[in-house]
Amino acid sequence: MDIVRTVVELRSHVSAWRKDGLTISLVPTMGSLHAGHLSLMKVGKEKSDKVIASIFVNPLQFAPDEDFETYPREENCDILKLVEEGVDLLFAPNVNEMYRQNSKTTINVGGLTDCLCALSRPGFFDGVATVVTKLLLQALPDIAIFGEKDYQQLLVIKRFTTDLDIPVEIVGAPTIREKDGLALSSRNIYLDPKSRSIAPSMFSILSQHASNISNGSDIKKSLKLARQNMHDLGFDKIDYLDLRNSQTLETCSDLKRPSRLFAAAWLGSTRLIDNLTVT
Ligand code: PAJ
Repeated sequence: MDIVRTVVELRSHVSAWRKDGLTISLVPTMGSLHAGHLSLMKVGKEKSDKVIASIFVNPLQFAPDEDFETYPREENCDILKLVEEGVDLLFAPNVNEMYRQNSKTTINVGGLTDCLCALSRPGFFDGVATVVTKLLLQALPDIAIFGEKDYQQLLVIKRFTTDLDIPVEIVGAPTIREKDGLALSSRNIYLDPKSRSIAPSMFSILSQHASNISNGSDIKKSLKLARQNMHDLGFDKIDYLDLRNSQTLETCSDLKRPSRLFAAAWLGSTRLIDNLTVT
């Protein structure tokens, strides 16, 4: 696997592949790779001739009180995992390469960013949209792959690539979980043993209530009970626990359209998110 740190080097690899008529997938990440990230690389391998992974801890998507400085950075380990996965190229720019010349442009996506994670993380989706737009324009892949674990992020990325006519297919891939149901996340290492033992109950409570709602339980009552269950099991603060339309993220009072249950909650200083489809 080649490793490049500048846009010029990235583009030279991409144009050589293009000359040979090869198709390209891009998998953007912030590193500290786990099986969830690697599942996206596998999708890339299936769908295209070449796979580029990017690792960039994007300062634009961290609020001043968030963990940008301490976010886990394990490049050597990540490289081994990417090689094992058969990834062709790693793009790992530093902050000056990504945001050269004191850049002043950000991407703001309307509608989808006035709810859920946007409320507790103002500016987060502008940061994500800006860096992903840059990565897409730097690499110009045929396909870019993102996890449903960050479902709102996936919808935001689909929205702005359509709105800005960026010629790329955005592919969503299912959430990879620990055996006990906890969605894999680079931030799970922050959980102390007690919090780690409580964390999987987010998934079990969501699954239970998704199934109750599918089977006709009253939506409002189920959501209230699910919140109560999370509090009782030891979650400190619940940012949201909502049933929303899978495409528009509007709140749902019935199951006439495809819907998902979304939750974000705190265990100590760690914020966990999860979501699942309600059939
Ligand atoms: P990061 O949290 O590193 O995640 C990179 C990609 O891996 C995202 O598409 C995310 O949804 C996916 N992912 C994370 N955990 C997953 C899991 N358990 N199963 C499946 N996929 C999972 O998301 C970001 O980075 C950044 O916001 C980024 C898009 C790279 C922009 O900076």
